[in-house]
Amino acid sequence: MIKKAVIPAAGYGTRFLPITKALPKELLPIIDRPTIEYIVNEAIEAGITDILLIVSSNKNAIIDYFDYNIELESILLSKNKVEEYKLVRNIAQNVNIHYIRQREQLGLGHAVLQAEAFVGNEPFAVLLGDDMYVGKDQPAIKQLMDAYDVVQSSVLGTMEVELKNTSKYGICTPKSDAVKPYVELKGVVEKPKVEEAPSRSAIGGRYILTPGIFKLLKNQERGAGNEIQLTDAILRLMATEKVYAYDIIGKRYDVGNKVDYIEAILDFGLKKDEIKEDLQKLINRKAK
Ligand code: G1P
Repeated sequence: MIKKAVIPAAGYGTRFLPITKALPKELLPIIDRPTIEYIVNEAIEAGITDILLIVSSNKNAIIDYFDYNIELESILLSKNKVEEYKLVRNIAQNVNIHYIRQREQLGLGHAVLQAEAFVGNEPFAVLLGDDMYVGKDQPAIKQLMDAYDVVQSSVLGTMEVELKNTSKYGICTPKSDAVKPYVELKGVVEKPKVEEAPSRSAIGGRYILTPGIFKLLKNQERGAGNEIQLTDAILRLMATEKVYAYDIIGKRYDVGNKVDYIEAILDFGLKKDEIKEDLQKLINRKAK
């Protein structure tokens, strides 16, 4: 059973500068809750009991968000604002959140390496904060956990992207005899040039990895963008273990992309009872 998840949250958030100069990108709000809370909730819904958030020096506001705020809570109670009290008290209950600081931002692979002591010798989940999912029937990461139960090997959550977008992702090379839904891979490459993309099957920010990844991350050379890439270590893992791709079923939002981020706000807003009707009217007005 996979019980541990790692959420890297140490990146600079350059796509959302200047706000990310002072606000961690993981706290950009989908109306009234930060994006990272949706990622944490996805893990909780999947049955994860322990989450390691990998943060960096300017991300203390994330730690505050998942902590109790005793002063605020007592003020809300003293004013008899019980609903508001519950709103702030009930964030990320039923999960243990742990933190570690990545002391220098050397890349996603280096960030995941920080989780070695937390993970120990078990398979574990990785959820990237830029990718938000509304999974069909099951949370995205639960779909991969179920796939792991079948293949007993690392599983990359994938999606088909347009050829012109392959240079933004880790792109998979399936084995020639691979069949969906559990697609055994013979390769994976981080952000290939469009003309060199081996397929249109892209990693969508969700992984189940075996602990064998750590010894590879330790001596992983820098790759695309001069960063220590998780994708490169996964490629090397294929020399000794099977690695599979599994297409996640559901809607994905790349909340590091401004238009996708706005779409997420609209879609979640349209599900919120207190605003959905007014928001729909606004959308209709704007569409004219
Ligand atoms: C990371 C991974 C990449 C993956 C992508 C998904 O890239 O390195 O393999 O396809 O997330 O969002 P980033 O977007 O952080 O550059």
